[in-house]
Amino acid sequence: MVFDILTIFPDFFGTPLQEGIIRRALEDGKIQVGIHNIRDYALDRHHMTDDRPFGGGEGMVMKPEPLAECLKTVLAGDETSRVIMLSPKGPRFSQQVAQRLAVSPRLVFICGRYEGVDERFRDKYVDEELSIGDYVLTGGELAALVVIDAVSRLLPGVLGCEDSAVNDSFSCGLLKHAQYTRPRIFEGTAVPEVLLSGDHAAIARYRLVETVKLTLERRPELLLDVSFTPAEQKILKKEGLLGRIETIVREYRTERSSAG
Ligand code: ADE
Repeated sequence: MVFDILTIFPDFFGTPLQEGIIRRALEDGKIQVGIHNIRDYALDRHHMTDDRPFGGGEGMVMKPEPLAECLKTVLAGDETSRVIMLSPKGPRFSQQVAQRLAVSPRLVFICGRYEGVDERFRDKYVDEELSIGDYVLTGGELAALVVIDAVSRLLPGVLGCEDSAVNDSFSCGLLKHAQYTRPRIFEGTAVPEVLLSGDHAAIARYRLVETVKLTLERRPELLLDVSFTPAEQKILKKEGLLGRIETIVREYRTERSSAG
């Protein structure tokens, strides 16, 4: 997978891409990241990438020409790339979006700054806008890193153990059960006995129940979009969880339909 980042702060990306799993993915050639300084494509001698908004108002707006020139050079006619602008105005980035993006051959990120980006650039060149949450960052750089991180770890061979991504919180639509490692007893608290039993079926049952309990407690709305196999339903019924799930799903659906 190739990622390209268009930014006026190219130095921003040094350290975050040089650590851990992302660093290894780069070294192994599983991902490539190109960082492009929009300022290099500014037309005037002061290399201006922003200007005052027409109609007045606070702040500065990113000019369309340097962005367009930079993007055209990076794409070099490639039509398979997906151009993504990071902005608090976009739809919310999620694990599902990460999964959808992970099958693209190339993603190009436009990191907006200041009060925004000239709308004509967005209309002509941007395939989709994404927000990483309902808060305003000083620019799209951190958001681009978040998306690159979440997408990269879904690519084949990027995580050491392939199925770690499969068992993630959210990838099956629910929050992941708690994890424990050595020592067996930490400050007087022992690891749940079943995890030491070596009984893989019992461990899988325990983890399913813990996953569902955690999701019921913290993010019950996630249960709306999940379906359980008959075997899982049997386990959840025995634990008294199936009825709770059905009630919650019914309540949310009623709420949704009455909200129109
Ligand atoms: N730029 C500023 N705030 C942002 C956000 N929440 N998500 C993506 N890009 C942004």
